[in-house]
Order: sequence, then structure tokens, then C-alpha cells
Amino acid sequence: MQIHPTIASLRAALADARRVAFVPTMGNLHDGHLDLMRKARQHADVVVASIFVNRLQFGPREDFDKYPRTFENDCAQLTAAGVDHLFAPDEQEMYPTPQRYHVVPDPAHTDILEGAVRAGHFGGVATVVLKLFNIVQPQVALFGKKDYQQLMVLSNMVRELALPIEIVPGDTIRAADGLALSSRNGYLSAAERAEAPRLNRQLVRIRERVQAGERDYLRLETEAMAELAAHGWHPDYVTVRRRSDLQPPSGDEALVVLAAARLGTTRLIDNLEI
Ligand code: PAJ
Repeated sequence: MQIHPTIASLRAALADARRVAFVPTMGNLHDGHLDLMRKARQHADVVVASIFVNRLQFGPREDFDKYPRTFENDCAQLTAAGVDHLFAPDEQEMYPTPQRYHVVPDPAHTDILEGAVRAGHFGGVATVVLKLFNIVQPQVALFGKKDYQQLMVLSNMVRELALPIEIVPGDTIRAADGLALSSRNGYLSAAERAEAPRLNRQLVRIRERVQAGERDYLRLETEAMAELAAHGWHPDYVTVRRRSDLQPPSGDEALVVLAAARLGTTRLIDNLEI
């Protein structure tokens, strides 16, 4: 795998590439990321990953400074997964001057769920991803369903700005006990790690109840939040939404149930398509 700290080096290496698949990440890689890398291989002859912890998408009180940075180990895993090129810029390369031009997603997509709790987050994600797309110029880009709202926002950005890029979603990869893999799981104490799968179990329960015909979503949501709170969680939301735009369901659309909750100092998110 070739490692490129600069845009110029990556562009030179990709000059003759025919079909590029791209997987952007913030590093501290786990099987969820690596699954996207392996999937990327099925879509292109050149696979490019990036590692960049993007300051723009972190709030002032969020974990930008303590976000885990494990570059050597990440490189070994990317090499083993067959990635051809890694774009790993430093802050100076990505933001040599403060970024003054930003992507502003539809507030209807960003003022809800994660965006309601993390003001400015999705604008920061969309801005860096558009910039990365312009640097890498891929034909295909892969994103995990683990970050369902992020996938929705980026799919809309690509469509509305007519970017010539196909967005391919990857299924959420989980530990054996159901916990969705996440770089932030490393913040959990042993006791919290043992408790953490409850979040997914609540989502599975809601999916089962909806599939069995239950339509009182509010009741299901309230019960799940109470169950989490009773076990020491601080839930932000547990909510059934339509998949297309994550608004409340109005009819017979395809649904997804999404949740975010804090366990100790760690905020976990998860979702399940119904
Ligand atoms: P990061 O959290 O590193 O995630 C990189 C990609 O891996 C995202 O598409 C995310 O949805 C996916 N992913 C994370 N955990 C996963 C899991 N358990 N199963 C499947 N896929 C998983 O998401 C970001 O970085 C950033 O916001 C980024 C898009 C790179 C922009 O900075």
C-alpha cells in the first residue's frame, strides 16, 4: 500500500487509474471499516482509503483531541485488506487556511436526530467529504449504515450537486453480542462494555414488534427509552423513521429505527432497518 501525505502525491499516483473506489475514515480502524475496504474491491480496480480526523465535524465540547489515533496499526490492517492507496493528510494539508467555503445540507436533514444534538456536525462532514471527493475523484464511494443519517446526507449531497459518484452502503458490522463496532467503544469501561449490547437489543425488540404489526411507535420508543434509563443510560432518542429522509413515518414506507444514548461518558449510536 502506498501512503500519501499530500494531495499532489495521491493525484500523481491515481493519474492513470480507471475506476477508483474510495472509503473515507477517521482511523482507529475496526472490522466495520475493513468490511467497507473489502467491499470496495468488488467495485473498482483501485481502492483508496483516507484517514483524517476532521476538526470541522466536532463540536467544541466533543472528543476531537482525545479521538483515538492509531496510525501504524491502521496501516497494517489496510494493507492486509488489500487497499492500494492511503491518503493521510495532516491538518495543514487539508486546511492550509481556515475553511471558509462550506457545504450547507438541508436543515430538514441535519436539525434532527444526530444533528439536533451535534450542531454543525453534518455540515462539517459534508464539507470534508466533498473536499475528499475532489481530491480522490473516485467513481464509487462506500459508507456504513452504522452512521445512517450521515449516509442519507451524503447521498443527497451527491444527487443534488450532480457529483459523478456512486454511493454504496455497507451493512453495520457488530460484535458477537450485537454491539455495533465503533472507534468510540474503546472509551467504555469493562462494566459499560458488558451493558452496551442493550442498545441493540432494544432496537431488535422494536423491529420485532413492528414486524408483528404494532403501529404505536411512540409507545415502543418510550418503553425502550425507559428500559435504557433504568439501566443507567441517558438516551437522546429512540425513534422509528422512514428510511428515505428520516422523517416520522406517514404511511407504509420502508422504516428504520435509530437510537443514540450515553453510557457513562460515552455516546453510542445504532440503528436497524425494519
Ligand atoms: P468513521 O467514523 O471513521 O467511519 C468511516 C466509515 O466507516 C463510515 O462510512 C462509517 O459509517 C463506517 N463504519 C463505522 N463503523 C461501522 C460499522 N460497525 N459497520 C459498518 N460500517 C461502519 O464516518 C466517519 O468516519 C467520518 O464522518 C467521515 C465520513 C470519514 C468524514 O470525516
